[in-house]
Amino acid sequence: MNIPVLETGVILIVDDNPNNLEVLSETLMDTGWEILIAVNGEGAIAQAEYACPDIILLDVMMPGIDGFTACQRLKSNPVTCDIPIIFMTALSETVDKVKGLSLGAVDYITKPFEHEEVLARIKTHLQIRNLTKQLQTHNQQLQQEIADRLAVETKLQKLTQELEQRVEERTFQLSQALHNFQQAQVRLLQQEKMSTLGELVAGIAHEINNPVNFILGNLNHASEYTQNFIDLFQLYQQYYPNPEVEIQQKIDEIDLDFLMQDSPQIMSSMYKGTKRLAQMIHSLRHFSRRDDSVVQPIDIHEGIDSTLLILQYRLKANSERSEIQIIKHYGTLPPVECFPGPLNQVFMNLLANAIDAIEESFITNTNFSKIASSSVHLLSVEDNGKITIRTALHKQGSVVVIKIADNGIGMTEEVKQRLSEPMFTTKPVGKGTGLGLSISRQIIEEKHGGTLSFVSEPGKGTEFCIEIPVLSQKA
Ligand SMILES: Nc1ncnc2c1ncn2[C@@H]1O[C@H](COP(=O)(O)OP(=O)(O)OP(=O)(O)O)[C@@H](O)[C@H]1O
Ligand SMILES: [Mg+2]
Repeated sequence: MNIPVLETGVILIVDDNPNNLEVLSETLMDTGWEILIAVNGEGAIAQAEYACPDIILLDVMMPGIDGFTACQRLKSNPVTCDIPIIFMTALSETVDKVKGLSLGAVDYITKPFEHEEVLARIKTHLQIRNLTKQLQTHNQQLQQEIADRLAVETKLQKLTQELEQRVEERTFQLSQALHNFQQAQVRLLQQEKMSTLGELVAGIAHEINNPVNFILGNLNHASEYTQNFIDLFQLYQQYYPNPEVEIQQKIDEIDLDFLMQDSPQIMSSMYKGTKRLAQMIHSLRHFSRRDDSVVQPIDIHEGIDSTLLILQYRLKANSERSEIQIIKHYGTLPPVECFPGPLNQVFMNLLANAIDAIEESFITNTNFSKIASSSVHLLSVEDNGKITIRTALHKQGSVVVIKIADNGIGMTEEVKQRLSEPMFTTKPVGKGTGLGLSISRQIIEEKHGGTLSFVSEPGKGTEFCIEIPVLSQKA
C-alpha cells in the first residue's frame, strides 16, 4: 500500500526555558510545520487537549508538574492518549530513558541536541503518526464494511428464515387441504354408496311388502276355507260311505285321504314362509333407514342382524368352500343413541371384509396346496369359515363394544401400516375400492365419537372392535 508521507504537521514544544524554546523553534521554523508552545506541564495538557498536535516535544524538569507526570496524564486522557510524545531532557541516565519510554513516550532526545537529529526524529515520528492515523481510518472503514456486510447477511438470514417459514406454512396448508379434500371425497363416496344401496334395498322392500302382506292376510282365510272343505268331505264320507263309482274313482285318483291330511300342513308351511318373508322385509327396511341426520335410540343387534340378512347370499356354501358360520355372542344392551343408517353401513363394511378375508384364505389355500405345504395356517375345504360377533357393555354401562372377528387370511405388517390410507386395497381392480375402512372410521369416530381398532395376524384372522358411547354426544 503506497501511503503518502505528510509534509505538514503540528508540533507542541514544552519547555520552561525560553532559550531552549527559541533554539528549537528556530530549528523547526523552516520545515513548514506549525509550532505551538507551552512553558509548563499544565499548559501542555491544556493545549494538547485543545489543539490535538501531531507530536509533543516534552521537557522533563519543569516547575509545577514535571514531564513524566504530564506524560502520564496525557496518556491516560482518551483525547490525547494517541499523540506521540518525545522527551527532551538533560537527564541522560538509562534509567530515566526507560522510565520515559515505559510511560508511553515514543522517543527520547538528550540535551544539548543536534539540529539534524531532532529534525530526523520528528520527521520519522510524524510519518509513523501519519501512517498510524491512515491505518486507523482504514481499519475503521474496514470495520464499517464488515458491520455493513454483517447487517446485510443478518437481513438475508432473516429473509431466508421468513421464506422457509412461509414455505413450511404453505406446505402444511397444502397437505391439510389435500387431507380435507380426501376426507370430503371419502364422505361423498360414502353418501353415494349408501344412498345407492339404501335406495335399492328400500325400493325392493317396498315393492315386495304389499304382495306379501296381501298373501299373509289371505292365507288366514285360505286355511279356514280349506279346513271347512275338509270338514265337509268328512261329513259326506260319514253319511254317504258308498259313493257313486265315478266319485270313488276321483277319490282314488286324487288320493283324498293324503290330500286332507297334507293340506293343513301346506297351509301352515305357506304361512310360516310368508311370515318369514314379512320379517325379512322389516329387516330390509330397517337396514335402509335413510334418516341419517338424526340420532335415535336403536337396537344394535337388530342392525347387525339386518345387515347379516343382506349378506346372507355371500355366507352360503359354494364350490370353493363350505358355508360361513356366524357365531353370535350378544350381550344385553340398552338402546344405543346413534345414526342407524351409517352404523349399519359400518357393520356391512366390516362383515363384507371378513367374508372377503375368509374367501381369500380358501383361494390362497387351494393355490398353496397345489404347489407345496405351507407353515402358515390356512383354511382347508373341510374347515369352516367363521365370523364371531360379540357385543358387550363396558365402562359402567356407558360404552357399547362390538367385536367382529374372522378366521380369514389376516393382515401382514405392511397392510396394517397402510390401513389408515384412504383408497388402500389389496383386492383386485373392480372388487375393492379401498374405502370401506376409511368410511367406517369416519362414521365411528366423527359421527359417533367412538373408536375403531383391530388386531390381526397373517394366516390366523382379524378382529375389528367398535366402541361407541351409549348416549350420543351429538344429540
Ligand atoms: N377382516 C380383514 N381381514 C384381512 N384383511 C382385511 C380385513 N379388513 C380389511 N382388510 C384389508 O384392508 C384393506 C382395506 O379394506 P377396505 O374395507 O378399506 O377396502 P376394500 O375392502 O379393499 O374395498 P371396499 O371396502 O372399498 O370395497 C383390504 O383391501 C384388506 O387388504
Ligand atoms: Mg371393504
